[in-house]
Amino acid sequence: MRTLIRGGLLVSAEGAPPTDVLVEEERVAALAASGSQLADSWVAGSDRVVDATAMYVLPGGIDAHTHMDMPFGGTTSSDTFETGTRAAAFGGTTMIVDFAIQKKGESLQSGLDEWMAKADGTCAIDYSFHAILSDVSETALKEMDVLVSEGVTSFKLFMAYPGVFYSTDRDILQAMDKASGNGALVMMHAENGIAIDAIVASALARGETDPVFHGRTRPAELEGEAVHRAIRLAQVTRAPVYIVHLSSTPALDAVVEARDRGQNVFAETCPQYLFLSEEDMDRPGFEGAKFVCTPPLRPREHQAALWRGLRTDDLSVVATDHCPFCYKEQKELGIGDFTKIPNGLPGVETRMDLIYQGVVSGEISLSRWVEVTSTNPAKMFGLYPRKGVVTPGADADIVIYDPTARQTISAATHHMAVDYSCYEGMDVTGRVEAVFSRGRQIVENGTYTGEAGHGSYVRRGLSRHLA
Ligand code: URP
Ligand code: ZN
Ligand code: ZN
Repeated sequence: MRTLIRGGLLVSAEGAPPTDVLVEEERVAALAASGSQLADSWVAGSDRVVDATAMYVLPGGIDAHTHMDMPFGGTTSSDTFETGTRAAAFGGTTMIVDFAIQKKGESLQSGLDEWMAKADGTCAIDYSFHAILSDVSETALKEMDVLVSEGVTSFKLFMAYPGVFYSTDRDILQAMDKASGNGALVMMHAENGIAIDAIVASALARGETDPVFHGRTRPAELEGEAVHRAIRLAQVTRAPVYIVHLSSTPALDAVVEARDRGQNVFAETCPQYLFLSEEDMDRPGFEGAKFVCTPPLRPREHQAALWRGLRTDDLSVVATDHCPFCYKEQKELGIGDFTKIPNGLPGVETRMDLIYQGVVSGEISLSRWVEVTSTNPAKMFGLYPRKGVVTPGADADIVIYDPTARQTISAATHHMAVDYSCYEGMDVTGRVEAVFSRGRQIVENGTYTGEAGHGSYVRRGLSRHLA
């Protein structure tokens, strides 16, 4: 099967020239300047010609931080791998990297096996896993080598959530030491969970139980402190570190300071920290629970710094931390006690459109949009150049994007298995027109044409961002 995508602007981290893309079976076969003799010669031999005139053609989005079907906060995130990856496809994302959780007292491998089984045969798009280290034992440290050889090359640790996923500085140091030897990337949830728990206990004792107190008990300074500590632990062990879901100015300041010293420190932020704010957690009634995630949404003033960080590459990736819980029955578990609200927001479907608003408003360039949503995650997590770029030999994960279409984000029209949208009623410019996953069209004019099980597990290499 030969598909020719004709006449679009091929957006990459380098530019957006008019380019025709020839796809053969699952791969990109060749590129040629639109209107060139070579490109025109492909028409006759193609089984299908897709007209992309006036459209952007880009590598499919890579969401490097999702939690499908994840038991958390006394319930389970509401998207399965089937519903979540289908929703991702609608939003122009063609690959997710989810998290396989090591249970306390169990092996990393059994966590990976469990998550492999959840995803197997159900995904619309390709997928891979990071491992969550929640029990840093001698055995688990040894297993890190095995997982790296199996294509799980990144490990998340938590400085938050004491009693759940929390790791001590000792644990973190040991895991980083291991990573510096085997080339893995340590991903850090950086908030000072011990201090936060004390602040939370005082708030509850004062009767402060509404959703907004989730944010007020997790000050940005304690994110900044934890980021700084993670960076220094990484420095001592000579390991790179990747800060997940960075939300605030103090946290970014710590990253900038380390990068300016030349340390291999990387960070991601998420759309919710760029578009939503602490005020959303203070909505009337219990509505604020819809916006409870960790780290919490910050006062609006932090947003400008995050956009600047995206421009300067101090923030290299935008992922979603997609971890949806329905308002009814799930978020409602926290009525009368904000600590019982399951933490997490839906977002896998809206990431590409939301970050494109940064292009529309002039916060980032068109190329930077593709870089932070696709190319950089591919490089960071050992997927490049198979993913994250439209180039001969790469997987034909391709999005055709209409840069001028208008749409309104709503739970009534989204495809995530969750009963609300954090961006309800928001008008946005730009819309996904078509999505190809390994050469197969899986979204066409707003209709899903893929199938559960088309998505395959991808073994990842080591991070190439350090090269
Ligand atoms: O609120 C969040 N972020 N939920 C998912 C778990 C995590 O910490 O990433
Ligand atoms: Zn986290
Ligand atoms: Zn997460």
